[in-house]
Amino acid sequence: MRPESLLFAVLWLPLLCLAKIVEHVRDLDTQSFDFVVIGGGAAGNVIANRLTENADVSVLLLEAGGFDEDDLLVIVPAFSFNTMGSRLDWNYTAQIGQNNRTGSFSRGFVLGGSTAISMQTLPETPDGLGRAYSLTLERFTPPADNHNTSGQFDPAVHGFNGINSVSLSGFLHRFNELIIETGRMPETEFPFNLDPNSGHQLGIRWSQSTIFNGTRSSSAASYLAPPFRQRPNLHILLHAHVTRILPTTTNQSHYFSGVEFTQDAGETLQVVTATKEIILSAGTIGSPQILLSSGIGDSESLSELGISPLLHLPSVGQNLTEQPLLIYAWLVNSTDPRDFAGPNATALTAEYLEQWKETRTGPLVNGALSTICFLRLPDNASIFESFEDPSAVPTPDNFIGASPNLLTPASRGFLTLNTSNPLDHPLINLNLLSSEFDMFAMREGVRSVRRLMEAPPFQGFILQSTIVATTDEELDEYIRENVVAGLHPVGTASMSPKGADWGVVDPDLKLKGAEGIRVVDASVLPLVPAAHTQAPVYIVAERAADLIKAAWYL
Ligand SMILES: Cc1cc2nc3c(=O)[nH]c(=O)nc-3n(C[C@H](O)[C@H](O)[C@H](O)COP(=O)(O)OP(=O)(O)OC[C@H]3O[C@@H](n4cnc5c(N)ncnc54)[C@H](O)[C@@H]3O)c2cc1C
Ligand SMILES: *[C@@H]1O[C@H](CO)[C@@H](O)[C@H](O)[C@H]1NC(C)=O
Ligand SMILES: *[C@@H]1O[C@H](CO)[C@@H](O)[C@H](O)[C@H]1NC(C)=O
Ligand SMILES: *[C@@H]1O[C@H](CO)[C@@H](O)[C@H](O)[C@H]1NC(C)=O
Ligand SMILES: *[C@@H]1O[C@H](CO)[C@@H](O)[C@H](O)[C@H]1NC(C)=O
Ligand SMILES: *[C@@H]1O[C@H](CO)[C@@H](O)[C@H](O)[C@H]1NC(C)=O
Ligand SMILES: *[C@@H]1O[C@H](CO)[C@@H](O)[C@H](O)[C@H]1NC(C)=O
Ligand SMILES: *[C@@H]1O[C@H](CO)[C@@H](O)[C@H](O)[C@H]1NC(C)=O
Ligand SMILES: *[C@@H]1O[C@H](CO)[C@@H](O)[C@H](O)[C@H]1NC(C)=O
Ligand SMILES: *[C@@H]1O[C@H](CO)[C@@H](O)[C@H](O)[C@H]1NC(C)=O
Ligand SMILES: *[C@@H]1O[C@H](CO)[C@@H](O)[C@H](O)[C@H]1NC(C)=O
Repeated sequence: MRPESLLFAVLWLPLLCLAKIVEHVRDLDTQSFDFVVIGGGAAGNVIANRLTENADVSVLLLEAGGFDEDDLLVIVPAFSFNTMGSRLDWNYTAQIGQNNRTGSFSRGFVLGGSTAISMQTLPETPDGLGRAYSLTLERFTPPADNHNTSGQFDPAVHGFNGINSVSLSGFLHRFNELIIETGRMPETEFPFNLDPNSGHQLGIRWSQSTIFNGTRSSSAASYLAPPFRQRPNLHILLHAHVTRILPTTTNQSHYFSGVEFTQDAGETLQVVTATKEIILSAGTIGSPQILLSSGIGDSESLSELGISPLLHLPSVGQNLTEQPLLIYAWLVNSTDPRDFAGPNATALTAEYLEQWKETRTGPLVNGALSTICFLRLPDNASIFESFEDPSAVPTPDNFIGASPNLLTPASRGFLTLNTSNPLDHPLINLNLLSSEFDMFAMREGVRSVRRLMEAPPFQGFILQSTIVATTDEELDEYIRENVVAGLHPVGTASMSPKGADWGVVDPDLKLKGAEGIRVVDASVLPLVPAAHTQAPVYIVAERAADLIKAAWYL
């Protein structure tokens, strides 16, 4: 063999193996795969990774958005505020609450899904789920500024070898010091909590985020890191907007094996086949929309829209559950730009971005939250007589944010199709604050934040609240006018017991009444966790991957 041809062979092989993320359907070698995963977000990327651990299994992952590993909008943690409404966002509009007010409703439109645009805060779950997650899936890493983290988390309840990189805040604000000091005061209503995985969820604590060395760790950066995405049996097609799932043509059963998608805004439709299963992981909005567009939902309303009903599952799109959030800003007595979120983010960002590029340090290394405080309503709160316990930026002044966010809302919203065109946005009604419980809890949330900001350590630092409402009536009106989505929606393809007359999937996540399809993403959660939702979705997807492997002896 001549040296040139040897060189050719050596170079050619790695090139072939690297070409796993493709942008056009013609770049796929085949149209038939063992599994087709719809949506490359939190859940979809877990499934794609875990199923391709077995080299004999072929997986196609279809993602509507694109992917650029070096996209600053994704990888700079603090830019999470700029992702909303950007080219990385589906830009849904939703009816927010009770007064016909509509607002934007963000979901990630990029490989990594919402984990590529999220605020990167890790969850904290009271029931051991958080700890189970942390110990097995987490890789706890030093913060970007390498500060001594002793006393800021409990290493005993964290993992250091998992797939998702996590760190504490890598840039400390004065606000953080003051709030931790408040937590350490004797007999405070807001006690310091070392670690949410310790079994205690309540109190003030340091936030843990999916950030590594000052850089976002999305599900694409973790579950689809180069060693995984280069697997020859994993195929990733970008810019593939899935429109419907299709039943097999061989019989009239509810056996689904076809996935229809478009890469040119509906001008041409492509179909790929899953010989084993379709995994629907398009998220709380995308998954029910694809089901409804395919004729799976409430048969009567689908017929009215001109869609042939295939499978009557009236729960599709219903029970949409979202956490209400009230952005609450506080004017502060400081001119040090590191003490607050303003005043002129644009000017400061250019300077900080240089620092970030050079050393991966500075104010841009943090997500939205550096410190968190979880609270419960007191047991004697009047609302419990009628309810069971369910367990932005206003001015150019100097301000910080301390915002109440209800983790366990009782209100339920819904999603329906607006038209029969699968490419049109669905109608989303979050129906926030429709329950009296939620109104009560948000009102008390505002009051809790006020008590917190009045604590002695904040004196001389906090100048003024930007919300003046005080009576119940004034607060209710203010909250109704200003509540926004917490961006943790779940429940639109809810899991329910096998045989239940409601719900969309069985406990094994198989679509009820159908074969060949499972739903695996935030939409299957029947209740919103009293937490952030990213890690619960990872946990559900890891469990689903185990179930799928067991079902096919993989
Ligand atoms: C702005 C924002 C901030 C957030 N902050 C936090 C936080 O700080 N902490 C936290 O824990 N959680 C946070 N979340 C929530 C968290 O990101 C989600 O709960 C989680 O990503 C949901 O996972 P998923 O797999 O269900 O959906 P996603 O991660 O949204 O993935 C769905 C994927 O499917 C794709 N898709 C949808 N429809 C189609 C289609 N028709 N065809 C092809 N592909 C499709 C999407 O483009 C996307 O990639 C935030 C979310 C947002 C939007
Ligand atoms: C969302 O809006 C932004 C800004 O207008 C736009 O650039 C982007 O393409 C939109 N997203 C989608 C999926 O169309
Ligand atoms: C909301 O809109 C509906 C229909 O458009 C209307 O009947 C109702 O009065 C409106 N409600 C409020 C509070 O504006
Ligand atoms: C970190 O701080 C703790 C407690 O203050 C101290 O015991 C420890 O020695 C410090 N570690 C380092 C590496 O400085
Ligand atoms: C329909 O076809 C699929 C695949 O061809 C098969 O597995 C399934 O058993 C069939 N269902 C019925 C009811 O015949
Ligand atoms: C909504 O969820 C509840 C359980 O939390 C269930 O009883 C009800 O039937 C569901 N509604 C629909 C329309 O699925
Ligand atoms: C912010 O800074 C930029 C660049 O220095 C400047 O052009 C702009 O006017 C400033 N905006 C405000 C509100 O001060
Ligand atoms: C973090 O990023 C900096 C700047 O790019 C780099 O020099 C350093 O090696 C990185 N550290 C780790 C642990 O990856
Ligand atoms: C609840 O109990 C606390 C003390 O335990 C008391 O101060 C407060 O007034 C009570 N609130 C109500 C609404 O009864
Ligand atoms: C629903 O469809 C109507 C008619 O096509 C359109 O005018 C309206 O803007 C759509 N609503 C949403 C939320 O997309
Ligand atoms: C603002 O801070 C300065 C210095 O820390 C202090 O002297 C002054 O009293 C504070 N102003 C208010 C209104 O608290």
